[in-house]
Amino acid sequence: MSNSQNNPPVEASVVEASPESGATSWIYAKPLEDIVTKGTALARISGKQVALFNTSEGIKACDNRCPHEGYPLTEGSLSGKCTLTCNWHNWKFDLDSGDNLYGGDQLRTYPVDIRIGETGQEVWIDVSDPPYAQQYEKIRNNLHGAFIDHSYDRIAREIARLEKIGADPLDAIRLSIMWSVDHLEFGWTHAYAAMADWLSVYLESEGDKELQLLSLVECVAHTSFDVLREDEYPFSPNTQPFNANGFVEAIESEDEPTATAMIRGGLAQGLQFEDFEYALTQAAFAHYNDFGHSLIYVTKARELILMLGIEVAEPLLLSLVRNLIFATREDKIPEFRSYQSVLESWTSTHTETNRDLASPCSDHWFRKGIKPSLETTLSFKHLSADSILHSAFGYISKKYVEFRPIPAI
Ligand code: FES
Repeated sequence: MSNSQNNPPVEASVVEASPESGATSWIYAKPLEDIVTKGTALARISGKQVALFNTSEGIKACDNRCPHEGYPLTEGSLSGKCTLTCNWHNWKFDLDSGDNLYGGDQLRTYPVDIRIGETGQEVWIDVSDPPYAQQYEKIRNNLHGAFIDHSYDRIAREIARLEKIGADPLDAIRLSIMWSVDHLEFGWTHAYAAMADWLSVYLESEGDKELQLLSLVECVAHTSFDVLREDEYPFSPNTQPFNANGFVEAIESEDEPTATAMIRGGLAQGLQFEDFEYALTQAAFAHYNDFGHSLIYVTKARELILMLGIEVAEPLLLSLVRNLIFATREDKIPEFRSYQSVLESWTSTHTETNRDLASPCSDHWFRKGIKPSLETTLSFKHLSADSILHSAFGYISKKYVEFRPIPAI
């Protein structure tokens, strides 16, 4: 401990200690003299380790465990008026407020009172927790800071704190949607889609706290990464009644203000996701959007709204509209134009009598371009779609697993 032994004891807040004081959260910690003599002391109070420091601003108390990795702060260094440095990784804290001056998390500090007891001046500490709303607000702000910085470990600790105070840990996900939606220039990314899957893991892992925490951290951290240092791209605030055909037309003509106004209007009318789903699916099916991503995002939006509640519907659907509008319409690029004609000429001739015909060999698609592959597929239309899919996926799997050319048949 540095430079604190010589600080004179502070006379502020000297009150008589008595059981009738009514301050039930005030607990005796140490004789004042112990702290003044050594500059620092450790008190074990109500299962907590509290570090006490004699600073030029008076006696200060805080958690002894550094909020970074838990090293003892009684081994730290005091500087300035009351700045405490944890010597392990140099995080710095204002011992008065607990604010983090360098590093990440805030430090829990405790009010201190100097009282006259039987043996002289005593240090008492108020270990009661702040009101719930105050704790929640503090965690929310700290989580926001960690989200902006894309600090994975801080995100994890703040979500754990959220759960510790009895808040709904899924609030971390709701907040990360709110904090990100205006920063996704082209709408949905994999972060939102994966969020639905991680939340399923979370809900299925009851009792496994570690896996649950990991699931939530992945949701928040992935979203935070996708908006890291991104500008804001606000949505139009306009509202108009929802109309399914008009909505699909607005997306087709890439008219984001009209499509988003209809989402806002529909939600204001009390519509639920199911009321938008048909139009969203139609818009996603109107083209071969981003290799099918848009359609996947529609299904993931349903899952997320179901798991997180209607309050996330507006940001998720606004962002989904933006994705549908900006998505590459792959069917319009030369390589994919032939899909449309193949789809139109596809009429399955599969019947029960040819049910047992062998599946095509997966190598039928070997090293073929898009058009010959589609023609090959058409040549098997007397077989079931399942059987064709099985063989086509077999080829894809072989291609990726083998990492080398597949021998020609
Ligand atoms: S443990 Fe304190 S800064 Fe790392």
